[in-house]
Amino acid sequence: MPQPQLKPGWAETFGVAGSLSDPHFRALAQLIEAQVGIKLPPAKRFMLEGRLQKRVRALGLSDMGQYVDALFNADQFEDELVHLIDVVTTNKTDFFREPAHFDFVRNTAIPELMKLRGGGPQRNLKLWSAAASTGMEAYTMAIVLDDMIRAGLRADFRILGTDISNPVLRMAQKAIYDIEALTPVPEHLAKRYFLRSRDSSRAECRVVPELRSRVNFQRMNLMDTTYPVDRDVDIIFCRNVLIYFDKPTQRKVVTRLCSHLRPGGYLMVGHSESMVHNVVPGLKQIRPTIFTV
Ligand SMILES: C[S@@+](CC[C@H](N)C(=O)[O-])C[C@H]1O[C@@H](n2cnc3c(N)ncnc32)[C@H](O)[C@@H]1O
Repeated sequence: MPQPQLKPGWAETFGVAGSLSDPHFRALAQLIEAQVGIKLPPAKRFMLEGRLQKRVRALGLSDMGQYVDALFNADQFEDELVHLIDVVTTNKTDFFREPAHFDFVRNTAIPELMKLRGGGPQRNLKLWSAAASTGMEAYTMAIVLDDMIRAGLRADFRILGTDISNPVLRMAQKAIYDIEALTPVPEHLAKRYFLRSRDSSRAECRVVPELRSRVNFQRMNLMDTTYPVDRDVDIIFCRNVLIYFDKPTQRKVVTRLCSHLRPGGYLMVGHSESMVHNVVPGLKQIRPTIFTV
């Protein structure tokens, strides 16, 4: 039986639960772009409404209009903004995602960096996962580096993971994942670097403490004008986040990231983001998604 439908314009006029009025959608889209750099074209309105429903319910509100009023209330703004950002960001990630980058780190980047600056117990390689999500990218870097050290690389390493979203950072810190997440991890590395939950009813695993102690996570917004990060990073991964930003924002973010690389350091972007070489002069492209300074 056909469901009764609201006539066009009624939802907007009456602020029906579950829908955003035009001015409210525009206000949220502007706020999100200014704060996070993520553009929300009108086509994303349905997605935003769907994702905000949970937040409206969690706050005990009855409709989106009340939500927008609550958000723009000065007393609650800072706290609620964090939740809004979580609602609009996409956190998809995997261990060994886009594996060619990890092959490049092992076979080219680290050997070149060692040639340039020498190795030894004092040599502390610094890697940064600049949109870390739940930490799989940062832990994959740690697996590759630790495996190289076991194979004779004379260096130590530290890895920083940053992201704007608090819930994903909490997961990254815990480093507990569903067993299925290990599918892309080569079996011998999965055995060495993950512990199965002792409780057999939980199909979970945890990154071993030796790796966890070398990886640190902190909240950081790529839109900030300065980043609280060292200026001698060897390798930065900033993958699958630039795609959300417009060209001027990409240029600013990539320029700022590169200012944290040591000479000869590398920047990796996602495979759908290879256009960044057009936006930052002086960045040398050595593979479609790999750059050096
Ligand atoms: C699709 S995930 C990518 C994760 C990982 N880099 C990968 O490629 O597997 C994008 C991540 O970027 C984060 N993000 C979005 N906007 C951001 C911003 N302005 N500053 C920092 N992180 C942001 C999101 O919270 C999300 O965790």
